[in-house]
Amino acid sequence: MDTRAIGVFDSGLGGLTAVKQLHRLAPQENVVFFGDTARVPYGTRPAQTIVRYALEDLSFLLTFDIKLIIAACGTVSSTLPRRYTEALPVPFVDVIGPTARAAAAATANGKIGVLGTPATIRSGSFVRELESIDSRLAVTAQACPLFVPLVENGYTARDCEVTRLVAREYLEPLMQAGVDTIILGCTHYPIIKGVIADIVGEKVTLIDSGRETARYALELLNKSDSCGGEGKLDFYTSDQGDGFENSAELFLGYSLGAGARKADLQRIDLHPCFGLAGGNP
Ligand code: DGL
Repeated sequence: MDTRAIGVFDSGLGGLTAVKQLHRLAPQENVVFFGDTARVPYGTRPAQTIVRYALEDLSFLLTFDIKLIIAACGTVSSTLPRRYTEALPVPFVDVIGPTARAAAAATANGKIGVLGTPATIRSGSFVRELESIDSRLAVTAQACPLFVPLVENGYTARDCEVTRLVAREYLEPLMQAGVDTIILGCTHYPIIKGVIADIVGEKVTLIDSGRETARYALELLNKSDSCGGEGKLDFYTSDQGDGFENSAELFLGYSLGAGARKADLQRIDLHPCFGLAGGNP
């Protein structure tokens, strides 16, 4: 048994969809969540910037006594070079592998759609992972730059005309391709799952990257007999606006209670493990 916390981070609050699943599946686990709300979105930024931000986020989480880190962000998972994640002093889980494996297991016709931020789709991460699982899979990937701002601004209702219009546009190529499974490759997207489901119909399976990643992380901890804790949830953000509690509730599905503490990233040095990984972020 290992009662240290699981560290989870995201560019914003979308990663709370993974925390929600962690807490649902293993309520005893302690979790430290960091959302980089001051710099969200990452998905429309150049790779070099995303890497720099991600190393700072990881360095912040490493100031806590944690046993595993989850990058609950499709954009970071797709962009951060492996040499950095392999240098970490604790196990690291990103959303790509667990989500792609769940999609490959779910598809009946071998046609899978991937929705993600521009950076995620540009990286080809999900396509590569799916092809490595089964080279016969036909994958159609679609960047959805407007989804994150829509979610962040509260356009999430199932009957929201604006979001429905945008979603129809993004989903059209996937429907044309005849996909029966769609990866929600960004942790913000489960919030508008209802809108997406209404457009693609109930025969198409939607794979939630936050849920699959939480499940896989817990499997890893179980295997090494490292589960356990007191169910303590700590939330940190790099910025704090008035609407934080409401937004957090939207992603978590319940009220945050004590709220979030502010993380001052400017006072955090990059963790020494990244120096050993070489390269200049
Ligand atoms: N949560 C991020 C992701 O999963 C999306 C938000 C962003 O663009 O930073 O990719």
